[in-house]
Amino acid sequence: MISRRAFARRLGAAAAATRMLPEMAYAQRAAVDLAGLPPDMVWLNANENPLGPPAVSQVAMREMIPACNRYHYQEFGEMYAAVARSEGLSPAQTVVGAGSSEVLHTAVDAFTSATRPLIAVAPTFEGPAEVARALGRPVVLTKMREDYSADVRKLAEEADKAHGGLIYLCNPNNPTSTITNRADLDWLVNNLPANTTLVVDEAYIHFAETPEIESALSYVRQGKDVIVARTFSKIYGMAGLRVGFAAAKPEIAARLAALRINVISIVSARAVVAALADRENILRPRRASFSRTRRELCAWLRERGLKFIEPNANFAMIDCGRNAREFIGAMPRLGVAPGRPFPPLDNLLRVTIGTDAEMAKFRDVFWKVYKG
Ligand SMILES: Cc1ncc(COP(=O)(O)O)c(C=O)c1O
Repeated sequence: MISRRAFARRLGAAAAATRMLPEMAYAQRAAVDLAGLPPDMVWLNANENPLGPPAVSQVAMREMIPACNRYHYQEFGEMYAAVARSEGLSPAQTVVGAGSSEVLHTAVDAFTSATRPLIAVAPTFEGPAEVARALGRPVVLTKMREDYSADVRKLAEEADKAHGGLIYLCNPNNPTSTITNRADLDWLVNNLPANTTLVVDEAYIHFAETPEIESALSYVRQGKDVIVARTFSKIYGMAGLRVGFAAAKPEIAARLAALRINVISIVSARAVVAALADRENILRPRRASFSRTRRELCAWLRERGLKFIEPNANFAMIDCGRNAREFIGAMPRLGVAPGRPFPPLDNLLRVTIGTDAEMAKFRDVFWKVYKG
C-alpha cells in the first residue's frame, strides 16, 4: 500500500497531468512541508470522514471483488434507480458520476460558454471555477456578505449582466461552513435571469442542523433550472470510491449525462446500493456523532475566547488572530495537518472535524502554536 506521504510526493506530477483533482490538488497547495512528518499524522485538511465506508458497504465491496473481470454494465440501471429513489426522484432526473466533481464538471461544460460565465462567491469550492478556466470560460467571483453568506442578489446581477451563465452556490459553503438560508435560496431560484442555470452543491448538507437550510431538491422536483450536486464522499465516508450525483429536470439531466465519461466502478456502485438500503441507520448516528464533536470544538474555542465562524458542515473556520499560514506551516510538524489557505480570509484556519481523539490532538497542537 502506498503511504500517504509517498502518494503526496507524486501529487505534483499528477495534479499537473490531470484536468481536475479537487481536494487532493488543493491539499498539495496547502503549504505543508511533507518531509519529516510524524508517522501518526492526523489529517484534518480535506474534509474527509474518519469513519470510512459503512460496514454494509464494505461487505458488499468485498463480495464484488472476485467478479471484477466483467464490466457489469447491465447492473447500473439498478444503481441509478436506487440513487434516484433515495431522494424521491426518477432515474431521468439523476446523473451519477465519479464523485460530485464529475457532475459539477459536466454542469460547467454544458451551461457556461465563451460569453456565459461561471458565477460564484469567493471563497468557495474551487473545482467548478478551475474547470471553467480550463475550458476557457469566463469566471466571475462576487464578494460575500459581512456574515460570510453568499450575496444572492449580486450573483443574480452578474448573471443578468452577462445575459446568462451558470451560478454555482455551495450550501453549506466550503470553506466558510456558512449556509444560504431558505429565503435567499428561494429568492435566487425565483429571480434567475434569462439563460441562467443554478447549480447548488450540497456536498455537506447532511451535516447542517439549522432549520434555516433547505435542500434545493424541491426546486428540481418543480422543474426549475436548478441542478443539485450530491456526493458519497462526505457523510458516507466514501471519498476514495468516487461516487456523486446530480439531480435536475430530465432535459438538464440529459445534457449532463451526455458529457459524463463512463459508468463508475462496479465495486463503488455496490457500496452505494448497500449504503442506500440502510440509509437512515447510517446517516442518523453519523450526523449525531459529528454534531457532538463539532459542538465540543466550538465550546473549547469559546472557553479560550477564540473567534470562529459558526459551523454548519464537517469543518470549521477558526480566526487565528494573525495570518493562518503560520499555523498551516507549523502544525504538520507537530502531527496535525489543517486545511490550506483561503485568501482573502487570511486569518482563518479551516479544520475538518475528525474523531474525538483527533480533535483532542488538534486542540493541543493548535493551542501550542497559538501561544507561540
Ligand atoms: C463543496 C465540495 N463539492 C464537491 C467536492 C468534490 O467531492 P467529490 O468529487 O469527492 O464528490 C468537494 C470536495 O471536497 C467539496 O468540498
